[in-house]
Amino acid sequence: MNLILMGLPGAGKGTQAEKIVDAYHLAHISTGDMFREAMAEETKVGLEAKKYMDNGNLVPDEVTSALVKERLQKPDTNVGYMLDGFPRTIAQAEALETIASELQKPVDAVINIDVDPAVLVDRLSGRFICRTCGATYHKLYNKPKVEGTCDRCGGHDFYQREDDKPETVKNRLAVNIKMNTPLLDFYRGKGLLYTVNGEQDIDLVFDEIKLILSKLN
Ligand code: AP5
Ligand code: ZN
Repeated sequence: MNLILMGLPGAGKGTQAEKIVDAYHLAHISTGDMFREAMAEETKVGLEAKKYMDNGNLVPDEVTSALVKERLQKPDTNVGYMLDGFPRTIAQAEALETIASELQKPVDAVINIDVDPAVLVDRLSGRFICRTCGATYHKLYNKPKVEGTCDRCGGHDFYQREDDKPETVKNRLAVNIKMNTPLLDFYRGKGLLYTVNGEQDIDLVFDEIKLILSKLN
């Protein structure tokens, strides 16, 4: 099963992605995570991406699509993949069509997590992440079961993302809102789009996703 997970910044893509890949054993491909790793390693792609990410802008299509093309050639994607945060522009969606068809790994469904933008600033400003395993939490809505300890790996070291600062969040949301509607139309036109209500409890969002996936096969 090959999926795309869509949603505005803070909609819950990373949160649901963790659950989906655990349950369905898909390769998780998050372009945001890949760029953050490249930034930490100070690779050429990382240094290029940093110029855009620090301001909440999109990394150029050619850079992003090349990264995904390389990633989709790795054998772990043969059993199925889940793209998280890609594509984000029509040019990326078109590039993906070509890549997926060349590799014979076509997209089966696009799941859009729908959340009112007004909710998102709050979601992003309260987010914190486990430094050891990358699990995502929220100071009000998604706290670890034991305060200060990661549910997933038992780690105690958490951080806040650089681009979750209020000034950057505003631009990130504006940039992504502009790109979102044409992309949704693109996949709706292909009959691949499924929308879930992202403004309910995290487990209920996952229940909706599972229901959609159960009808795919
Ligand atoms: P990326 O890392 O993909 O960030 P994003 O799209 O801005 O999305 P986020 O990771 O911020 O949010 P999310 O939807 O995963 O939400 P989460 O689950 O954490 O991209 C970062 C940057 O990289 C981009 O700005 C761009 O520069 C670049 N980039 C990446 N892909 C690119 C591309 N294709 N093209 C060009 N550039 C690209 O949840 C958020 C918070 O809410 C958490 O605290 C969570 O605990 C909480 N939460 C989740 N679900 C719920 C719920 N149902 N109820 C209450 N709280 C919830
Ligand atoms: Zn952890």
